[in-house]
Amino acid sequence: MAQRDLILLGPPGAGKGTHAEYLKTHMSYTHLSTGDLLRAAVAKGSDLGKQAKSYMEAGELVPDGLVISLVAERMEQLGDEEHFLLDGFPRTIAQAEALTAMFERVGREQPLVINLAISDAEVVRRLSGRRMCPDCGTIYNVRRDGLDVGDKCPQCGGELYLRSDDRPEAIRNRLKVYKQDSAPLIEYYRQRGQLVTVDAEQDQHQLSAELAQIARGRRSY
Ligand code: AP5
Ligand code: MG
Repeated sequence: MAQRDLILLGPPGAGKGTHAEYLKTHMSYTHLSTGDLLRAAVAKGSDLGKQAKSYMEAGELVPDGLVISLVAERMEQLGDEEHFLLDGFPRTIAQAEALTAMFERVGREQPLVINLAISDAEVVRRLSGRRMCPDCGTIYNVRRDGLDVGDKCPQCGGELYLRSDDRPEAIRNRLKVYKQDSAPLIEYYRQRGQLVTVDAEQDQHQLSAELAQIARGRRSY
């Protein structure tokens, strides 16, 4: 079966970034994380970053128009042989409809959507322990890796930090926003026959292996 474009759908902390990194490394996907692009824009202080900053810090969604243009721009640069791995997009029905139209316009098969199912309690546990490298983007967890803010990234030496939206208040709001605006996408994609749901609470390595099987078309759903 031919490799298919993928969307990783799931609440904050479900493991979208972690597993995108795995699939990118092992299966040559072009990873597009709207969260990473927006954080880079904020760090650079670009116009987009200035517009996005306050929404992100509060755990609110950045307006659809800004994010849709960002993805449309990347989609135009995508070669026929490349495969998209979308992480954190779409997040609203309007974004999903815009994406469906983008795929139709360029005549690509609609992507497979992997829904990472996880409980709120596990989300809070993971995000409160997450630490990030500002330089290479590697995602760590205090509990698993024993690395904390200020420690050096074992991959590149960058100084680990806590994402500004990983404070308890912002985490609570991100979960609320996910339920309200993004959870309806599960039904949207189920009805279109594009959805597969996996247990995102299982061991990270087991889940990576399961996702690779799905991406290779070797696991039925
Ligand atoms: P974004 O960056 O997309 O954040 P998010 O969706 O809230 O998701 P996270 O990145 O927090 O979690 P993740 O699922 O990637 O988990 P991770 O792999 O890091 O968006 C941030 C903000 O940008 C939004 O709030 C919004 O403001 C804006 N934005 C972005 N896209 C937008 C859009 N389309 N429209 C509008 N606004 C948008 O893992 C989390 C932790 O768990 C890590 O420590 C990891 O090591 C650990 N972990 C992962 N998997 C496992 C496992 N199986 N077992 C144990 N630990 C695990
Ligand atoms: Mg992420």
